[in-house]
Amino acid sequence: MQDRIVTVDQTDWTSPADTGALATALEDGKVLYFPQLPFVMTDAEKSFLSPTWGDGKAKNIAYDGERDQLKGAQGSAEDLARLKAMVARFRTSAVGLITSLFPHYAANLRVAQTSYRTARVEGRETSWRKDDSRLHVDAFPSRPNHGERILRVFSNVNPNGEPRVWRVGERFHDLADRLAPAISRPIPGSAAVLHALHITKSRRSEYDHYMLQMHDRMKADLAYQRDGVQTRMPFPPGATWVCFSDQTPHAAMSGQYMFEQTMHLPVAGLHQPDSSPLKVLERKLGRNLV
Ligand code: SIN
Ligand code: FE
Repeated sequence: MQDRIVTVDQTDWTSPADTGALATALEDGKVLYFPQLPFVMTDAEKSFLSPTWGDGKAKNIAYDGERDQLKGAQGSAEDLARLKAMVARFRTSAVGLITSLFPHYAANLRVAQTSYRTARVEGRETSWRKDDSRLHVDAFPSRPNHGERILRVFSNVNPNGEPRVWRVGERFHDLADRLAPAISRPIPGSAAVLHALHITKSRRSEYDHYMLQMHDRMKADLAYQRDGVQTRMPFPPGATWVCFSDQTPHAAMSGQYMFEQTMHLPVAGLHQPDSSPLKVLERKLGRNLV
């Protein structure tokens, strides 16, 4: 199980490591773990290590780099400008890391939201479906992605030595072997209805249906949560880690203060498209899903 996590001794956000081997590991659904790659906050920025900067409504402070907009934060205009600059700097670092490690991705990479998570993981009250302390693969009800990949970069910036503790689960192949055969096809016409009602931002493909069903069935199954193949992984402060979160079963168990950058990549932009969730599911089900 420990082989689900690959440790990379790189100390710099832009110096490329052995990228061929890392691309294979990443696309096989492993977590790339950089124990010595901190996102360094300045002394002034350390004042942002408090949950009081959140607006109390949103789960995270979120930065939309395309529009240069910060959401979910509160403070004076001056503080918000400094906060935004810090989150934007994480975005630049994370994109630099991915494009230096995987130059092949650069042309097709779509950089999405950056988030700064000040809330403590433990004790968060949510429904089982939103509970990210249950093992899951990422799939979002309102945001169909038609097979496009979800690549995420995480950095723990906890100032008190607290790790961000995850559980990392089995290979996507094995997960899909167990779950996919029992999932029935979407109800004909349902995708159009969901879209017309603005429940989804675009039409939910059959791929999105299967991924959402897998997400829900994993989270709802307490025996799987307890006994399923998994490994506990504490990511210490100063560490950065990267995975395809649509492929790698993961759960956040404890910790506080983390940055996260989401990027999207079309299946055709991968080194080995055949190991993507879309292609794995299509092979198992014997038909096209998008
Ligand atoms: C998740 O992506 O499911 C949660 C990750 C985290 O908050 O550490
Ligand atoms: Fe997740």
